[in-house]
Amino acid sequence: MRVLVTGATGLVGQELVKQLHAENIDVNYLTTSRDKIKSEANYQGFYWNPRKNEIDQNCFDGVSAIINLAGASVGKPWTDVHKQALIDSRLNTIDLLKSSLQNKDHHIDHFISASAIGIYESDYRILHDEDSTVLSDNFLGELVKKWETKTEEMSELGMEISLVRTGLVLSEKGGALEQMLKPIQNYVGAVLGSGKQWQSWVHIEDIAGIYVHLLKSKLEGVFNAVSPNPSTNKELTFEISKIIDKPIILPPVPEFAIKLLLGERSTLVLSSHMVSAKKIQTAGYHFKFVQIKAALEDVLSHQK
Ligand SMILES: NC(=O)c1ccc[n+]([C@@H]2O[C@H](COP(=O)([O-])OP(=O)(O)OC[C@H]3O[C@@H](n4cnc5c(N)ncnc54)[C@H](OP(=O)(O)O)[C@@H]3O)[C@@H](O)[C@H]2O)c1
Repeated sequence: MRVLVTGATGLVGQELVKQLHAENIDVNYLTTSRDKIKSEANYQGFYWNPRKNEIDQNCFDGVSAIINLAGASVGKPWTDVHKQALIDSRLNTIDLLKSSLQNKDHHIDHFISASAIGIYESDYRILHDEDSTVLSDNFLGELVKKWETKTEEMSELGMEISLVRTGLVLSEKGGALEQMLKPIQNYVGAVLGSGKQWQSWVHIEDIAGIYVHLLKSKLEGVFNAVSPNPSTNKELTFEISKIIDKPIILPPVPEFAIKLLLGERSTLVLSSHMVSAKKIQTAGYHFKFVQIKAALEDVLSHQK
């Protein structure tokens, strides 16, 4: 089997490629950087530039499914220019894949795309399952809605569609955990706001494992990709502090200060998302990491 992966060079993509290879699944991947192109029997890179509608059509050769992870990072400051890039890098990419395949002979019957739990309304009490209609109308929520709608359009090509509503990915290689870890390591870490906001996390091996499971079991539909036990910001902060043995000495950072510092992007750390993992578990996925302590111990042990 051979799959085409977009965003394969990113945080999730690298772990996904590792797991696909372990299952003897070959990977073609699209990258926007020519210097990231490798040419190996089971890992073949192809160039694309969605802004200019450029794509190497050979990327589809022998492929039976697409896993779509491409998207500019939400971690960078949300200037007007970057906000547009966040949208374009998720919508133009899918448009380009669709228009390329429209008049082409191919055997691709499954399109699996990243999505995010930021689609759900921030709330301290609601446990969001995939049928939740309580959706967010902030920038991130609207971005994810547009992204999912665009993804669904791939069904017009006769493909099954899967949407992976991803939580906070815990990895030693970067992402949100790195941002939380650095201040704690330097004794300037603190709980953010009330600390009561739910942060539904997922270990990097599990997020990649979920993609592989959806692919191999040909599961279509919307799936939350979060561990079964979400943590609050306070729990996460203190758990990291205990594991790396650096006490939290500062008081919580007040919400207004975070808003002043991060502006609209403060929703990334202040929003509360308690999200259910029941559907993916019922669909046969067995999480490797279900408790925050074990997940953090594993991820942080790779750091030392
Ligand atoms: N990590 C999380 O906590 C998290 C949470 C929720 C949702 N997600 C979503 O899951 C997906 C994978 O996450 P990740 O953490 O692996 O992201 P990442 O490390 O930022 O990697 C995303 C990849 O997308 C490609 N990309 C960046 N800008 C692009 C553009 N303008 N046009 C086309 N491709 C572009 C890059 O690949 P090339 O340089 O090779 O082109 C990059 O390696 C993302 O779409 C992200 O929004 C992640």
